Amino acid sequence: FARYAPYIREINRLKREKNAVILAHNYMTPEIYHGVADVVGDSLQLAIEATKVEAETIVQCGVHFMAETSKILNPSKRVLIPDMAAGCSLAESITAEGIAEMRAKYPGAPVVSYVNTTAEVKAASDICCTSSNAAQIVAAMESDTVIMTPDQYLAQNVARDVPQKKVVWWAGSCIVHEQYTPADINDFRALHPGVEIIAHPECPPNVVEACDFSGSTSGIIKYVAEHKPKQAMLVTECSMASNIADALPEVEFMGPCNMCPYMKKITLEKILWSLHTGREEVIVDLAVAEKARVAVERMIDLSK
Ligand code: 13P
Ligand code: SF4
Repeated sequence: FARYAPYIREINRLKREKNAVILAHNYMTPEIYHGVADVVGDSLQLAIEATKVEAETIVQCGVHFMAETSKILNPSKRVLIPDMAAGCSLAESITAEGIAEMRAKYPGAPVVSYVNTTAEVKAASDICCTSSNAAQIVAAMESDTVIMTPDQYLAQNVARDVPQKKVVWWAGSCIVHEQYTPADINDFRALHPGVEIIAHPECPPNVVEACDFSGSTSGIIKYVAEHKPKQAMLVTECSMASNIADALPEVEFMGPCNMCPYMKKITLEKILWSLHTGREEVIVDLAVAEKARVAVERMIDLSK
């Protein structure tokens, strides 16, 4: 950690000087997560925290859709992302035309879009969801048929947990979580019989079913902190285990993990550059932001 100290000191100094806060996702590297973040959390927590920010500037340490969500909720604030290329395979998998296609195919069915979408897609949707509230949001829809976009696996996991609804989905996927297979889980369990295996619901349903628990990134952290298994395999992005390992010395984190190349674009060097230069600023068309805000705020209200 020592080699990061000069960056951490300078970023924390600049934050005060520029009246900025850093909202960081749970997939940020430990030096960001522990060194410079003011708030850490999963997508839902970051969206809720974004509504409470008093500082003039938000530096979003996460991917672009998260920065857009902060901007949508805070149109008068400056929202910076340290690397514009921090995208997301799910957000890239659907456009507003895709939403229109789904509406034409399932007339009258509400569209529940994952927050991992662009502002335009949110604006074309009825409500958003995150991995921590997806089942709750789908269950609350009045219609029997519910369209979920763009994550086919999250949708299939929700369909299993909310059997009273007919869930239909778009065919997007997360490049990090789609790589896991049930054989990965079963082979690892055979090698380490006592291990608790915990997956993110962006994993295919047969992977989730082979695991002991599934939840949002913060749901996973909470589960491990409460259960303190002797051995745990986190079926998600690699920084998750690194970020919580020090606080849970009784848990041995083991097994393979996958790196999100988009999340890993955010580094201390780029955060420092961002604070110095005021770049890259995230701009959302006002009319789009207004519609998207309705979908995000409906989700936040329903999650209370
Ligand atoms: P969470 O909302 O669970 O943090 O998920 C965001 C994400 O991008 C996971 O891949
Ligand atoms: Fe997108 Fe997957 Fe990366 Fe999350 S882990 S930001 S869903 S590509």
